[in-house]
Amino acid sequence: MIEKILKIGNISVKNGILLAPMEGITDLPFRVMCRKYGSDIVYSEFIASEALIRDVRKSKDKIRISDSEHPVAIQIFGSNPAAMAESARIAEEAGADILDINYGCWVKKVVNNNAGAALLKDPQLMFEITKACVEAVKIPVTVKTRLGWDKNSIIINEVAKMQEQAGAQAITVHCRTRDMGMSGKADWSYIPEIKKGINIPLILNGDIQTPEDSLNALSTEGADAVMIGRSCVGNPFIFKNSHQLIDLGIEPKLPDAKERIIACKEHLSLSIDYRQDTRAILEFRKHYSGYLRGLFNASPIRQKLVALETKEEIFDMLDKYYEFLVLEDRLMPQNNPEIPKVTCRKS
Ligand SMILES: Cc1cc2nc3c(=O)[nH]c(=O)nc-3n(C[C@H](O)[C@H](O)[C@H](O)COP(=O)(O)O)c2cc1C
Repeated sequence: MIEKILKIGNISVKNGILLAPMEGITDLPFRVMCRKYGSDIVYSEFIASEALIRDVRKSKDKIRISDSEHPVAIQIFGSNPAAMAESARIAEEAGADILDINYGCWVKKVVNNNAGAALLKDPQLMFEITKACVEAVKIPVTVKTRLGWDKNSIIINEVAKMQEQAGAQAITVHCRTRDMGMSGKADWSYIPEIKKGINIPLILNGDIQTPEDSLNALSTEGADAVMIGRSCVGNPFIFKNSHQLIDLGIEPKLPDAKERIIACKEHLSLSIDYRQDTRAILEFRKHYSGYLRGLFNASPIRQKLVALETKEEIFDMLDKYYEFLVLEDRLMPQNNPEIPKVTCRKS
């Protein structure tokens, strides 16, 4: 049985399974759901430092934190050390437990502004940004990045050391290069070597799709914790299931239709309470396929759900679907672990 302790500042978690930051996905309601279902630390969507400073309404909205989601990391991105330091202070004031810096986003809109993964071409500027943030706040500063810009410039070992020197208290590595985007396979084999050069925690990220993958990833030499992105969309249960397997050594109890539908309704209700307008129902549409994944005859139900506009209609359809599954004796989903197709809106 493995027992790895992840320590970041005062936060200490055993066999940490973390929720990855995902733009358009990891808003407050989803983070609350993931904490409830066993994620040990949750990360916000990335927030542009310049927008945060200018007080853009949407950015302020993204730093709202609920009492029930701690420990929570707010992630920021940008390329100007002073602006990053200022937005780090805003995140700290908003109640973040960790300030995370994005050095891994691959999408053009971010990279063309010399932010996200573009900084892998300028490790010195990366160093200065992290240092400026570390000096600006009392909460721990962590960073999330990739292996390098492309396969000919894998500089993660140097970057990790420099980030530690700059004061970062943990580093998450999405085990792909920038030019891979989200394609190809994440290569975890870099993790042991990265860890040999640093004394701060190393968090492994990329292609964890099942509780068994969580176990394998956490067993990787040098990995102090693991982080899950796409596979938890509509499937926050993966955190609990991973802990069942890793901590208790028991076969994960996969959620049946009842648990999935209850969670889907709870998540939708939280989203409506949080947004307080009709956008909540529109933005929630991306979550149905995850919650219903693998369930019998889910496809036509999902198509109907995405056309509905009120909570009452949606709840009614989900209840009727559940009754149908009971009648058909089809409460368990078929095994279907493939990664949901969610893409970053800034692509
Ligand atoms: C829809 C979407 C949005 C993302 N947004 C962010 C983000 O805001 N910040 C970040 O560091 N990474 C972001 N990522 C990358 C994920 O955090 C993660 O590194 C990547 O998805 C690989 O992990 P996975 O294989 O578990 O999904 C995003 C990925 C997706 C699919």
